[in-house]
Amino acid sequence: MADDEPEVSELVEAGLARLGHQVTSVKTGEKALELLGATEFDVLLTDQAMSGMTGVELCRKALALRPHLCVIIFTGFGSMELAVEALRAGAYDFVTKPVALDVLTLTLKRAALRQGVGRDLRQSTGGETPVTFGMVGGSAAIQRVFDVVGRIARTETAVLIQGETGTGKELVARAIHEQSGRKGRFVAINCSAMPEGLLESELFGHMAGAFTDAREARAGLFVEARGGTVFLDEIGEMPLGMQAKLLRALQEKKVRPLGGAREIAFDARIVTATNRNLADEIEAKRFRADLYYRVNVVTVDVPSLRSRPDDILPLARYFLGRFKRPGHEPLRLGRAVAERLVAYSWPGNVRELENCIERAVAFAQFDEITVDDLPPELKLVWDDAASDNSTLDFVEQSYIQKVLEAVDGDTQAAAGILGFDSRTLRRKLGLSDAERDVE
Ligand SMILES: Nc1ncnc2c1ncn2[C@@H]1O[C@H](COP(=O)(O)OP(=O)(O)OP(=O)(O)O)[C@@H](O)[C@H]1O
Ligand SMILES: [Mg+2]
Repeated sequence: MADDEPEVSELVEAGLARLGHQVTSVKTGEKALELLGATEFDVLLTDQAMSGMTGVELCRKALALRPHLCVIIFTGFGSMELAVEALRAGAYDFVTKPVALDVLTLTLKRAALRQGVGRDLRQSTGGETPVTFGMVGGSAAIQRVFDVVGRIARTETAVLIQGETGTGKELVARAIHEQSGRKGRFVAINCSAMPEGLLESELFGHMAGAFTDAREARAGLFVEARGGTVFLDEIGEMPLGMQAKLLRALQEKKVRPLGGAREIAFDARIVTATNRNLADEIEAKRFRADLYYRVNVVTVDVPSLRSRPDDILPLARYFLGRFKRPGHEPLRLGRAVAERLVAYSWPGNVRELENCIERAVAFAQFDEITVDDLPPELKLVWDDAASDNSTLDFVEQSYIQKVLEAVDGDTQAAAGILGFDSRTLRRKLGLSDAERDVE
């Protein structure tokens, strides 16, 4: 941080240190450049008005030295031109003085996100997509999942996979089967999609004539897996009566086909999945506690996509490869698009990201995905004064908003600071004539 007023630098330094940032303070731009030449920094905070070099000058020189540095300039009120100049000089943002720590913290948070994106985009040229067991993901959170999968795959243990919708539970189940070395098949069934009788005959089989449509006997998935893996998806929605039958089958390692007199032994690994909280389901008496303990010897929690933002861009690139037009290179991700992908909350997790990329590829007109190709909910998530397409209007608007915030929305006071009359300010804020006349 470069600032020649000790009160400001002490305040900011103490505040940021408490948040875990390491701050080195200097009093002049020249000193700051010296340090930047010698050491790698993430962010440069600089006052505009210092003796010697100004903040904007420092910004230009610092960026020439360290192109990926994030520069934030402290400016006084009333200097709209200065704010514009700062952004033109490549500053990430400006913060008006007196510096409010919460505003600065928020700006730093957004800057960190943006830097992460920038770093990731830089690395992506020639970088490899991290793939384990056919799944993309390099974040610590998903690596922990792969680690558990690797350790339990070769055991007989029953596994319950939990996670929000679209996080990749079925892929994890397949990975467990593939890594198990088991000879038999991977058979999957969705327990929520079927009435109890049908589910029972699918799982346990039936004799010929057991019910109206049962012309021929069928063995059922437990037996058909032949030593492989049975994946019971949405186990939380299995009807209670069927839960009792499943529990018995798992205890005895035998099934009784519908209409049959004899029980048949099976050998299959049972993997289950749910996006419901089974503890709540037990509480509400919709799920049997004894079955829960039987299927949940090991739990694998697949983390939501928003809890592992590092995986978003590698996944996006992976899907760009999957959905590329035949005979063409995969489309590229623009920076503004990448920033939005990382900032969005992804309630539908990886499936939602997959659909978003497929849609964007279909919409894209050139060899790069643009913000226009994204679904509406992604267009809303990001407003960044320093994004590539920032216009003078946009800068002016965000500056006006900052001043308004600082004076608690008092338009008269804001107009005074900005050097407009309040009519002009109201026009700039897009207020209608009628509203403007009510003073
Ligand atoms: N790590 C990953 N790498 C690549 N593709 C993934 C990954 N995770 C999920 N997907 C893809 O995302 C989609 C959703 O995954 P999956 O069906 O496994 O999720 P799920 O958790 O079972 O969802 P639901 O609860 O809705 O059934 C699939 O198309 C899958 O291929
Ligand atoms: Mg699923």
